[in-house]
Amino acid sequence: MTDLTPQNIPLSLYIHMPWCVRKCPYCDFNSHAVPDGKLSLDLEQEYLLALVEDFKTQEDFAQGRKIHSVFIGGGTPSLISAQGYQWLFTQLKALVPFEQDCEITLEANPGTVEHDPFADYLDVGINRLSLGVQSFNPDHLTKLGRIHSNDDAVSAIQHAKQAGFQRVNVDLMHGLPEQTLEQALYDLKLAVENGATHISWYQLTIEPNTVFFRTQPILPVDDVLETIQEQGEQYLKANGFINYEVSAWRKEKPSSHNLNYWQFGDYLAIGAGAHGKITQADGVYRFQKTRLPKDYLAKVPAEHLQFKRIEKQDMPFEFMMNALRLNEGVHAQMYPERTGLNLSDLDQVIGSLKQRKLMLNDDTQLACTAQGHVFLNSVLEAFL
Ligand SMILES: C[S@@+](CC[C@H](N)C(=O)[O-])C[C@H]1O[C@@H](n2cnc3c(N)ncnc32)[C@H](O)[C@@H]1O
Ligand code: SF4
Repeated sequence: MTDLTPQNIPLSLYIHMPWCVRKCPYCDFNSHAVPDGKLSLDLEQEYLLALVEDFKTQEDFAQGRKIHSVFIGGGTPSLISAQGYQWLFTQLKALVPFEQDCEITLEANPGTVEHDPFADYLDVGINRLSLGVQSFNPDHLTKLGRIHSNDDAVSAIQHAKQAGFQRVNVDLMHGLPEQTLEQALYDLKLAVENGATHISWYQLTIEPNTVFFRTQPILPVDDVLETIQEQGEQYLKANGFINYEVSAWRKEKPSSHNLNYWQFGDYLAIGAGAHGKITQADGVYRFQKTRLPKDYLAKVPAEHLQFKRIEKQDMPFEFMMNALRLNEGVHAQMYPERTGLNLSDLDQVIGSLKQRKLMLNDDTQLACTAQGHVFLNSVLEAFL
């Protein structure tokens, strides 16, 4: 393994906000209902202070780099006030500066009770919104336990655009309980026609530890799921969207933050349960913060940094699991640069995948073929 040079690797920052008004029955994210559906100002301030203390323990990992992108995810990060973010960014930038054109994304819910006016978030430097719409169908929104209506969802996109956000992602799920092809396509149509510039289109998965796992809803049969996938893709392509990752569709530039994850870049991570990855000269490390908000708030920040080195034998799979999700893959040079390993060690595996037409026959790029994307799990298994 050769020495790594962290300075050549972009550094992002993930901030986790662990609260929601109510827990959705399908959701396995580290999100917790707030008492009375409202985040108190005291708790907001206590948490923001804890985030800054947490960041101080990671400052040294920057190694001279500026922050390339920030993603504030949750939970429902829009429960925190715009003013709260203004204070937070000032504190963080004093420790590690942000790049001039740093992309800052905020995940926001469409329910109007859950956020300040969007213009206020834009004013404090947030320049990309990711709206958790999930569906525009009233029955599906009820089944999904969402607290917003279909009208709220439409007006959230419109308000975000009117407020001046040029980059608006809409999260939609498909394969919803008893969903028909027409309903799934109608959801895409509303997102497209109301001006989403990016769509994250996820197939609903039933996760352990969720209400849907315990009381399974009736999901569409495989044939319907396949048709939704095929026709949804055709619809998005016909409307000028480019599919650049398994579930990510863009009409504008890609999300730099997510791109950095998929290109095996580095990211600091603050907040309850947040996951980070950093490169040091001797290796690549992952870490995870204490998961429950109350434990996170109770602990000394340095104590809840659980660090784990990615072992040499696990590195090819870890790298490919991210890189090959991208439709265009990554430049081959990124492999040695970001893992410290020689790509030639994988000649046999890659050669065989190329022969089976699952990876592109291109020495400068590591990418799956269209067929390889269909069988992504088997492609990845080859790197285990
Ligand atoms: C971190 S979640 C939170 C976003 C935001 N709190 C919201 O729900 O509006 C990000 C996205 O993951 C997707 N998601 C969550 N649970 C899922 C599941 N079980 N299957 C598929 N997608 C899921 C949803 O589209 C959601 O918007
Ligand atoms: S609002 Fe989002 S994060 Fe919160 S429970 Fe629902 S899906 Fe999960």
